[in-house]
Amino acid sequence: MSAFLRRTNRTSPIGIDLGSGNIKMAQFKQIPKGLSLVNFGILPMPENAIREGKIVNSKLIVEALKELLKFHSFVGQRIVASVPGQLVIVKEILIEELPEDELREAIKWEMEKFFPFPIEKTTFDYKILNRVISENESSDKINVVVVAAPLDAVQSIVDVTKEAGLEPIAIEVEPFSKLRLLQFIPDFDFKSEILFVMLNIGHTYTSVSMIDKGMVNFFRTLPIGGKKFTDAIAQSLGKEFKEAQEIKETKLNLNNRKDPGTKAVLPLLDNLLLEVRRSINYYFKKFNDGKSVDTVILVEGGSANLKGINEYIEESTSFPASTDQLLADIAEVSPELFTKEYLLEMAPFFSVATGLALREHRARPAIKAKKAREAQKQQKKPFFKYKKG
Ligand SMILES: Nc1ncnc2c1ncn2[C@@H]1O[C@H](COP(=O)(O)OP(=O)(O)OP(=O)(O)O)[C@@H](O)[C@H]1O
Ligand SMILES: [Mg+2]
Repeated sequence: MSAFLRRTNRTSPIGIDLGSGNIKMAQFKQIPKGLSLVNFGILPMPENAIREGKIVNSKLIVEALKELLKFHSFVGQRIVASVPGQLVIVKEILIEELPEDELREAIKWEMEKFFPFPIEKTTFDYKILNRVISENESSDKINVVVVAAPLDAVQSIVDVTKEAGLEPIAIEVEPFSKLRLLQFIPDFDFKSEILFVMLNIGHTYTSVSMIDKGMVNFFRTLPIGGKKFTDAIAQSLGKEFKEAQEIKETKLNLNNRKDPGTKAVLPLLDNLLLEVRRSINYYFKKFNDGKSVDTVILVEGGSANLKGINEYIEESTSFPASTDQLLADIAEVSPELFTKEYLLEMAPFFSVATGLALREHRARPAIKAKKAREAQKQQKKPFFKYKKG
């Protein structure tokens, strides 16, 4: 009985994404008709509070977290936060097949060769991908995906959130929050042969997560994001950073190829997309004998709001690209609380926070409710553009 009471009194977790540009928080609750969006909030990350993903001024972050909590009606203190993507390493390793208890030790040894930080200062998890039958050697090998993050980064997130009066129930890595997010898309199941490329273009970095049949098989970050776009505009137009940022966010349209601002941004975007294409090709080679599979690109992060970016990505990669607006799409939203326009504009910022916030929610009832809502309105809005190749 007491366990039952404890369960029902528990509040849903608030997902917290500590980005270098903005702190984002989102919370959902389970309702009889699936999921409801309780609230979401965004606040600029204080300057010099975070550097290369590491917290360098925790006091400023604690204050910002408290401010966000004060302005929005989040419920309870339970939170799930994520380790910034730049600090996360996802690597596939080939290793001898061993019993489970020995496998973890063996992976540790193997990781020492690849990982840039000492293993005893790392937290890691792994998933077995497949078995590779060996003809010459005595035992078979297995492909394992290892996800690792530095322990001190995890600890400093626990410390700042606790200091802000919150109760961290989990600290996750970004690609796992993406994987959870995809589970809330109707008609998508992990048996489908679709490769999801989630491109989170933030302020200082872009993350590329590739998810296929329910596994995060690839994750990498590239040091290009909105800040570099703004720097390039500022330099090209001879403006201060703040003004250049304003121009980028309100006036820039990548379809105006002759515009000097667009001309300043495109070389950076081209570099980024070259790496994205390389990553996708690597993926096809590694996981599908070099053959392409149906691929969907979901564009997220604040820079997904750059006008014309989806078209540009489609042109460059030849895969369909859609903006990730799952914050707005997976739950019931009260029109009295948020206007549809505001919600859709803000949604791309919140893809990581949304995935984190869904940690204790079940996908199936949410999907059922979403389908019922659509049937009532007699319209079906696709979550992403999808074209069979
Ligand atoms: N309308 C817009 N057009 C273009 N860029 C935009 C727009 N709105 C916001 N941005 C850019 O989005 C970026 C912030 O996005 P986001 O909050 O996702 O980054 P972050 O998660 O804090 O950064 P990171 O993940 O790199 O640490 C900023 O560079 C901002 O200028
Ligand atoms: Mg981010």
